[in-house]
Amino acid sequence: MVKLGIQLGAGMRLRGDFEGLVDCRGGSIDRSIFWDREIYDAELQRIFARCWIFLAHESQIQNPGDFVTTYMGEDAVIVCRRKGGAIGAFLNSCTHRGNRVCLADYGNARRFVCNYHGWAFGLGGELLAVPEQQAYADERSLFDQTTLGLKAVAQVDSYKGLVFGTFDPNAPPLTEYLGAFTYYLDVLLDAEEGGTEVLGGCLKALMSCNWKLPAENFTGDAYHVQWTHQAGASAMISQRQFAYDLDRSYAANVNGHGSEFGLDGVANVAVLGHPEIVKYFRQRRATVAARLGELRAQMWGSVSSANVFPSLSFLSGVNTLRTWIPRGPHTTELRTWVIANKAMPDEIKELLRTATPRAFSPSGVLEMDDGENWELSTRAMAGVATRKERLHYGMGLHTRIDHPQLPGNVYQGQLSDANQLAFYQKWADLMSSPGPFERQDHMVAP
Ligand code: FES
Ligand code: FE
Repeated sequence: MVKLGIQLGAGMRLRGDFEGLVDCRGGSIDRSIFWDREIYDAELQRIFARCWIFLAHESQIQNPGDFVTTYMGEDAVIVCRRKGGAIGAFLNSCTHRGNRVCLADYGNARRFVCNYHGWAFGLGGELLAVPEQQAYADERSLFDQTTLGLKAVAQVDSYKGLVFGTFDPNAPPLTEYLGAFTYYLDVLLDAEEGGTEVLGGCLKALMSCNWKLPAENFTGDAYHVQWTHQAGASAMISQRQFAYDLDRSYAANVNGHGSEFGLDGVANVAVLGHPEIVKYFRQRRATVAARLGELRAQMWGSVSSANVFPSLSFLSGVNTLRTWIPRGPHTTELRTWVIANKAMPDEIKELLRTATPRAFSPSGVLEMDDGENWELSTRAMAGVATRKERLHYGMGLHTRIDHPQLPGNVYQGQLSDANQLAFYQKWADLMSSPGPFERQDHMVAP
């Protein structure tokens, strides 16, 4: 008997095969994970259909009917504020013939009407009405309106304004998934009273790179900053050489989420090129210290980067929030927003709204530096001889420390591959066990 169901492609890998692609002790990664279609297809099932994926910022969907459309892996979803105030998410694909139900990036709707035959769905995804319903009159046993709503995302939850969803009904709660990494997230989300909001719209770009390259860059790659961004940073702020202070900087990771950061308080902010913003951060430092403690007040605005596994990244101080959406093994869609504390004065918000994209956006000075490198790294994997070789991830692995305040696996100094390896260890762990759509109960016999 042939069983149908969602499976990996031909030559399906078995549990354990993926673990050999990532060698955390030896500090090396198999290049095939950045190129092979089979591995990419497995990522969609075992990572993007299982992890908590960033969906929206609550400030984008404040009122009933407000919605945004986004992706969880390659699954298009609608994220919507319902009438009672709850946030729901459901597949953006009609249950009739699969057409995209909502074509807009964001907006406010009373219902979502499919463009093909006019089926109409409510703010919770339920099927409200279909044209010519009498044509189904003799098909009562087949046409059950209550079962034909848009498929809901299994779990949706928020952490301090960031909305996440997972397709896995058995995934651990969001707070457990984030774990102690909230200590680092709060530098972005909770530095001032009132939380955060997104300023302006979303900037999008397609990059010819594998999604893991930007994600691993943000999780821990301070190493590239001095070299990759030297010209751009000089043009934007000064000719002064950026220097690492390994005594006053760290890398830390929790559950595959990672952040690297210094403690100078202003280096990221200075990149924006506005003394007014630097002054604001300096003036507010004592207030932030009272809220988050002295150590995190020093992290606020310092050279830093962070990634929530798998694909949500941010820079505190530069105030960019972004997600890396996979569009195939060699293409990534970047979606980026400017995020600000609600308590910031309007003039600072306006400066951030215009200054942040000049550094980090599809046309941003520093973003273009990075994008070219990630595209060239990906393209190099096309070669069959090149792809057989492994990549080196052996920097700073001996620098692990116990820190009295910093949670997670902590490393002294920003120059380290430790967070990147933690990212890939999480990747390998997930890739080595079946995802929610590979279970027996999702398979059907003909
Ligand atoms: Fe949506 Fe037919 S495909 S109504
Ligand atoms: Fe960079």
